Amino acid sequence: MTTPNHGARHVAIIMDGNGRWAKKRLLPRVAGHKAGVEAVRNIVRAAGDMGIEAMTLYAFSSENWKRPEDEVNDLMGLMKRFILSDLDEFAANDVKLKVIGNWRALAPDVVALIENALERTSGNKRTTLAVALNYGAQDELVRAAQAAAATGEISEAAIAAHLDTADMPPLDLLIRTSGEVRLSNFLLWQSAYAELYFTDILWPDFKPADLQAALDHFARRDRRYGGL
Ligand code: IPE
Ligand code: IPE
Ligand code: MG
Repeated sequence: MTTPNHGARHVAIIMDGNGRWAKKRLLPRVAGHKAGVEAVRNIVRAAGDMGIEAMTLYAFSSENWKRPEDEVNDLMGLMKRFILSDLDEFAANDVKLKVIGNWRALAPDVVALIENALERTSGNKRTTLAVALNYGAQDELVRAAQAAAATGEISEAAIAAHLDTADMPPLDLLIRTSGEVRLSNFLLWQSAYAELYFTDILWPDFKPADLQAALDHFARRDRRYGGL
């Protein structure tokens, strides 16, 4: 039996290329970020329909603070609006929201909004949507190692148990849009045996059919995990 997800339980996406999408249209970068939010909506809906259990989306990295203050403010504003305006949609589509990264260090109004959204969607079951906000994998690994050390056990299992993604299925497929071929400090531990898929499509142009194309590629990969 083939299913649209081809057995992929957890898919992560580095949503890159919003700025270039806007530039191509002679629009300000924020227009690209707005179009990116629309793409998020469509992809989250499609992921649920495809039976993907968990999706992790890289929305703001711990390195994105290096951007001009105006752009950072635009991104935070869009994030707030997305969470607020899509709560009903999450309920309708049975999406459980999760946030990974050092999000508690964000502005108090963002933290409060996130806490409310986490609580309101905590009973949803079909898809988990993990949004990586103020996320850096190296920061996550330091936090996980510190938490593991506090229990007196530093082992692979103990570190894995303290990652932000500890309660999610193993990462199957990691997608990056916009033609960049790097991980930019995203899910470094979790991608140890994930399949990687790079596409030139800019994030605002990424459609459910493109997600399906990535999954179809995934279906043809031979995952050996070091064995034969
Ligand atoms: C991705 O698009 C969105 C974030 C990093 C927040 P970019 O803003 O990085 O777009 P490009 O890479 O400049 O085209
Ligand atoms: C990665 O994209 C971060 C997000 C998509 C949120 P960047 O655009 O920040 O990555 P670099 O700077 O090109 O590596
Ligand atoms: Mg970029």
